[in-house]
Amino acid sequence: MTWPRHLSVRARSALAAMGAVTIALVLASLALLVVLHDSVERSAVATATTRAHDLAAEIGADGTTSDGAPVDGIELAPGPGDTVHVQVLAGGEVVGSSPAVAGLPPLTGATPVAGRAVEVPADVVGPGEGPFVTVLLGVEGAAGADAVVVQQSYAEGAETVLDAAQALLVAVPALVVVVGAMTYVLTGRALRPVEQIRRRSAQIGDTDLGTRIEVPATGDEIARLAVTLNGMLDRLHAAHQAQVRFVADASHELRSPLATVRAELDVALRHPETADWLRTAGAVERSNERMQQLVDDLLVLTRSAEGGAPERDHDVDLDDVVERVGFALRPPPGVRVEVVSQPARVRGNPLELERVVQNLADNAVRHAARHVRLSVAATRDAVEVRVDDDGAGVPEESRELVFERFARLDEGRARAAGGSGLGLAIVRGLVVSHGGTVRIGTSDLGGASFVVQLPTPTT
Ligand SMILES: Nc1ncnc2c1ncn2[C@@H]1O[C@H](COP(=O)(O)OP(=O)(O)O)[C@@H](O)[C@H]1O
Ligand SMILES: [Mg+2]
Repeated sequence: MTWPRHLSVRARSALAAMGAVTIALVLASLALLVVLHDSVERSAVATATTRAHDLAAEIGADGTTSDGAPVDGIELAPGPGDTVHVQVLAGGEVVGSSPAVAGLPPLTGATPVAGRAVEVPADVVGPGEGPFVTVLLGVEGAAGADAVVVQQSYAEGAETVLDAAQALLVAVPALVVVVGAMTYVLTGRALRPVEQIRRRSAQIGDTDLGTRIEVPATGDEIARLAVTLNGMLDRLHAAHQAQVRFVADASHELRSPLATVRAELDVALRHPETADWLRTAGAVERSNERMQQLVDDLLVLTRSAEGGAPERDHDVDLDDVVERVGFALRPPPGVRVEVVSQPARVRGNPLELERVVQNLADNAVRHAARHVRLSVAATRDAVEVRVDDDGAGVPEESRELVFERFARLDEGRARAAGGSGLGLAIVRGLVVSHGGTVRIGTSDLGGASFVVQLPTPTT
């Protein structure tokens, strides 16, 4: 069944309820009337049958009643009226009848069965208020008669049935209307919180993500909907705030190299003739590099956060990647880089995986005292890359923090060395995109140990 679209939920609910109740009540009413009518009719047949047997018992062998009176003009207790007619038949001819049907042809032409009273269709209906049932009883052993017909009215019972029908005709539509109205009102009441939620949601824009929807105290589906929507708002709000913070942090990071460039140029341009242009150019270049690095990192970070952008289904020999990165490192004097590798293949994006190893290696070189070790090992269900150093390590309580964007523990040193604080955030983003994990431990060399685990390819 399809509903007109413009109907509200409450109107549709009310109509549906009314439809269902109408069908149920009409069927029930019809059944009731049929049963009632049947029972009234059956009781009339029973009365007529009793009367037929009584009469049969009275008829003598000679066509008179047992007390000698002729069956013609037979008296009927409790007095004949227009509610019961009787006839005594012999060979299809009327030999006796109650006064009201005197002179009429046989009330029924049906063939009698001896000793059994049967309800038969009437050929002639006597006067009086009907409807009538007609019962025919075959009589045995009476020479002048072979059947008795009793026609019994059940006008009173029929009246009752009619009254019931009339009452139902009023009651059913009234009940249907009441049910419809109640459904309409109750559905409206039940939907009121939904309307409130809708109105509130419509008011929430991108500037007031902190607003929450009122949760109705009903504890029902609608309350749960409100709770769910609030949960969604929480997440959107948190994501939005993180985004705002990220942009603010990024701007802040770009500010200092820009300020450096500006200051250098300011000083040099004020005294162009005495300025050390070569030194100025060097400073500008370093700032530029730092900005470039930062912008690159930002780009990588947003890409890895977007997810799914680059292809990550290449076969990558991770040992090659680690060796390439390790041999290309330019550690400061006195720091030794060691590469321990065994063949290990993973599925992923080679450039991204190289970036992971590069970022970890850069950090290790920067923090190491004398020794950095890059190693690859393949176990049965994971390929593990470790980057160890003998530096100060990462304190246990900061091991989660350092993966956050712009997080730096040794602020001064890292900034001086050009670190933006995005390196580890990128590492985690890329590793997670590859279905792997990264964690920090304490190295046997004494410093930090960064452990990246990537899933072994299934084929
Ligand atoms: N090998 C390491 N040993 C000690 N601390 C480290 C090491 N690697 C990273 N860290 C800490 O984690 C912070 C975040 O690292 P990272 O995200 O790469 O940013 P950045 O290198 O730009 O400082 C670093 O500032 C440093 O405090
Ligand atoms: Mg770094």
